[in-house]
Amino acid sequence: MKILVAGGAGYIGSHLIPKLLDRGYKVDVIDLFWFGNNLPREVGILTKDIFSVDETDMAGYDQVIFLAGLSNDPMAEFSPSMNFISNAAAPAYLGYVAKRAGIKRMIYAGSCSVYGYTVDELYDEDRPAVSSYPYGISKLQGEQAVLQMADDDFSVICFRQGTVSGYSPRMRLDLIVNTMFKTAMAEGQVTVNNPAIWRPILSIEDAASAYIRAIEANPKITGLFNIASGNYTVGEVADLVKLGVEESFGKAVKLNIKAIQDFRNYKVSIERARNVLSFKPRHDVEAIIRDLAANVERFRDFDNPRYYNIQVFKANLAAEKVA
Ligand SMILES: NC(=O)c1ccc[n+]([C@@H]2O[C@H](COP(=O)([O-])OP(=O)(O)OC[C@H]3O[C@@H](n4cnc5c(N)ncnc54)[C@H](O)[C@@H]3O)[C@@H](O)[C@H]2O)c1
Repeated sequence: MKILVAGGAGYIGSHLIPKLLDRGYKVDVIDLFWFGNNLPREVGILTKDIFSVDETDMAGYDQVIFLAGLSNDPMAEFSPSMNFISNAAAPAYLGYVAKRAGIKRMIYAGSCSVYGYTVDELYDEDRPAVSSYPYGISKLQGEQAVLQMADDDFSVICFRQGTVSGYSPRMRLDLIVNTMFKTAMAEGQVTVNNPAIWRPILSIEDAASAYIRAIEANPKITGLFNIASGNYTVGEVADLVKLGVEESFGKAVKLNIKAIQDFRNYKVSIERARNVLSFKPRHDVEAIIRDLAANVERFRDFDNPRYYNIQVFKANLAAEKVA
């Protein structure tokens, strides 16, 4: 099996790809390497923008995974126009070329952000997805574009992922559990903007297992799948981070609870992924915190801008290096 991963040098890809290599898959990555390269040496590298990829580049692969684009709200809001190009047009173009090149399956990294602000009910994939912010809208457009290309010879599996957290060789500290862990360690406090808000959290370990289940799923399977390790209120995540850091490091952690309105609030059902893909999450928020604690020396330079997508993005834009 030969797999091409677009955006594979990012946070999810840098954790997932070593696992794919372990399973004996041949993996190549197309990436602009905004955040450097932390991939194993065996990975084939194409330093390219997705928009310059053609059928020749994609010939010979069995599957393609889309992990690229602007991967959070702050980046999307900083440059909404670039957000729509990167998150909506790029997966559409990649899927179009992949299909023409004879690739059999595309897996798309979507987001639960598409659900926007919901009542506190469990949402499955058939519930309305209504976001009014650039990131959520564009992630919905991306999944719609690639899903409508599916046919008997081209399977499309779209994930709506919860917020991913845990350690990756390309580390991010701008994701909920990782951010709280960082401030608990660096400042002895965790700020909670709104403790009542719901978020599905996806451990990076469970994320990797979801991609593996999708890659290995029956070729006839196509569709949209919520993927999360569990649903948590932000207040509960903060309690767990406080407890985990106090237990592991013997450090007192203060909670700073605020009441700021958020534009995202959702909890999701993963029953479809369980039933169709055999996706079973095994890593809850406590496990994510243990993983972060075990790897903390690898990202102890907490203020390094490379851990914060928006900082790298702004610097690259200023230097006209992005795309
Ligand atoms: N991390 C999360 O919590 C999360 C949650 C839901 C969905 N997602 C989605 O999963 C995907 C991966 O997330 P991540 O956290 O690994 O992101 P990331 O920001 O760490 O990595 C994105 C990678 O894509 C590359 N890239 C971006 N645009 C490109 C282009 N036009 N051509 C080539 N390379 C390009 C960047 O250089 C980077 O290496 C994204 O599509 C994101 O929207 C992430």
